[in-house]
Amino acid sequence: MNARLPAPSPAQPDWAAWRQHFASRAHRPLPAVDGDLPLAEADRAALADSLAVFQLGESGEGRIAHQIDRAQLAGIDGDYRAALKLFVAEEGRHARILGQMVRAAGGRLLSHSWTEGLFRHGRRLMGVRLKLLVLLTAEVIAVVFYGAIARATAGSNLGAALCQIIEDEDHHLAFHLDFFRTQTRSRPRQALFLAAWWAVGAAACAVVAWDHRRCLKALGLAPKALLQDCVAQLSRVSRGITAHPCAAQRALPLTASKWMTVSP
Ligand SMILES: [Fe+2]
Ligand SMILES: [Fe+2]
Repeated sequence: MNARLPAPSPAQPDWAAWRQHFASRAHRPLPAVDGDLPLAEADRAALADSLAVFQLGESGEGRIAHQIDRAQLAGIDGDYRAALKLFVAEEGRHARILGQMVRAAGGRLLSHSWTEGLFRHGRRLMGVRLKLLVLLTAEVIAVVFYGAIARATAGSNLGAALCQIIEDEDHHLAFHLDFFRTQTRSRPRQALFLAAWWAVGAAACAVVAWDHRRCLKALGLAPKALLQDCVAQLSRVSRGITAHPCAAQRALPLTASKWMTVSP
């Protein structure tokens, strides 16, 4: 079912392969999710509240799909623009799956949250490149936090559905990283990217850990361990930027299999 996963190239990412990758996954049926969770009522409510915040974040990335048509950036082409639109659609699919999860866990969907507003406001203040950097940060957060929730809900079909989302997010991370490799070909540009990456990424991870502290406590997840996971993922991206493209693929192995082992 999956198209071949594009490999980093010293010259130019294979945007046509990314387009094919996203297109090949666009029509997957939504996974089944029910409320059968190994959690007490209060813990289930805390989980539902957190999932509702993530659901809102997953549904708020549509503008970039239009802005990219007007952006004149080195290293991108029509296939990149088409792939980015398919990526946004895949995030919309995640929002629908998370919506199912929120309802299955007995929660209610949100129309706004302060963290989602912070991310949205931040994106609107920025140019396309910085917006994509915020989206790359969101991929790190998704891989870490969805992974932790998937481990805590192992054996449920909610946990299995989260594992499917994590696999997508891992591909998103590699897709955005391919883009940023095209934008950071000189050492000064790499240094600029890394400064912005660590400032935005570290702040975002800390804010999300704080915002979801009730859920983390309910699921028995230690914020310190999650933040260590965040640092590991932020470092993984840093290595992906600074490594030679041929080594970058080794620096950025897919992590989803780590989480897939916990699902039924
Ligand atoms: Fe997502
Ligand atoms: Fe994503």
